[in-house]
Amino acid sequence: MTTSRPEPQLSPVATLLLGRKSLLDSERGTVCPGDLPPASDPHLVDRARAAKHELGSRVFILGHHYQRDEVIQFADITGDSFRLAQEAAARPEAEWIVFCGVHFMAESADILTGAHQQVILPDLAAGCSMADMAQLEQVEDCWDALAEIGLTDGLVPVTYMNSSADIKAFVGRHDGTVCTSSNARVSMEWAFGRGERILFFPDQHLGRNTAVRELGLSLDDCVLWDPRRPLGGLTADQLRAAKVILWKGHCSVHGRFTLDCVHEVRERVPGVTVLVHPECQYDVVEAADLVGSTEFIINTVRAAPAGAAFAIGTELNLVNRLADAHPDKTVVYLDRTVCFCSTMNRIDLPHLVRVLENLVEGRVINRIEVDPATAADARTALERMLTLTQGPVTGD
Ligand code: 13P
Ligand code: SF4
Repeated sequence: MTTSRPEPQLSPVATLLLGRKSLLDSERGTVCPGDLPPASDPHLVDRARAAKHELGSRVFILGHHYQRDEVIQFADITGDSFRLAQEAAARPEAEWIVFCGVHFMAESADILTGAHQQVILPDLAAGCSMADMAQLEQVEDCWDALAEIGLTDGLVPVTYMNSSADIKAFVGRHDGTVCTSSNARVSMEWAFGRGERILFFPDQHLGRNTAVRELGLSLDDCVLWDPRRPLGGLTADQLRAAKVILWKGHCSVHGRFTLDCVHEVRERVPGVTVLVHPECQYDVVEAADLVGSTEFIINTVRAAPAGAAFAIGTELNLVNRLADAHPDKTVVYLDRTVCFCSTMNRIDLPHLVRVLENLVEGRVINRIEVDPATAADARTALERMLTLTQGPVTGD
């Protein structure tokens, strides 16, 4: 006897993860029209080179440090998210900016570039799980709940770059700023100059590490807002006593590093300098020797003398590239279990070739376009960050 089973009902998130649909209230989408060149095509490098040559100065390719080598080789500029935002804003002559990074970065580039320019993300499914942890509706609910207990006067919102354009727009509307891992300190200092309390999202670790380690606040000055619980899972008194309200979000790549990894690598590699990104957990950052953005990590390894040894707590593509670029130094990954950022890794050579060849044919595919009203408010918050931070990247 045969029985028919009903089709399982997929939640919107499951549908998104399976790549069957785009999730419109998510940071990510998955619609990538057209056929991809096969990854096995031995001519992919030549095809990318030829298309880029044909497009000339009409196209400018930005590559985040976490991108694969096969993609980075075609980047006109590589950088961390702050540098790439600056570079996108500084290229008015390029008709097309191809952003090899993730969705929120491409959105920021679209906001900062002129109306005559188009920003392209080679794979629309390259999102960021951290950015998805703060949805606009949740942030608005949080703000309303804080308003009800009288806490929004003197409350300054600061959002990490790793957030969607509508979150940045929210921050722009509420007189706050964007920050990146290379300027979080300056941004939080600026915020404390304007108010007595900060609402920081989506990365609790960057917020906590900056508040405690760089601004001299205590761990008790920070509380954690859980968007899934009433009043963030906190009491009104806890919120009133807090100086920084941290959003319960994190990076799934940097959150993997633990204190045990630090202890283990110190035994394994004598004399090693542990160098981590500030998206790592507080106890890991405290135990590390140095902390800073991806740009800071690169500059630190570059400036070290031959024979130096580093265990690095950031994304694996970058760590592998640093190891290859510095054969006279020891560069190891901080965790024994290696882990790429799966969404950064979605941008591969076939996706890059497809968008470039389409441009050669006169077709713009995978355009990232932020609606004008959202873009205007988000630009306020992004430009505030850019003017606050004119100098070089920070780290200690
Ligand atoms: P930076 O590029 O600011 O170092 O941030 C790292 C990151 O996680 C980007 O997604
Ligand atoms: Fe997002 Fe973390 Fe990947 Fe950066 S490394 S894109 S924060 S998931």
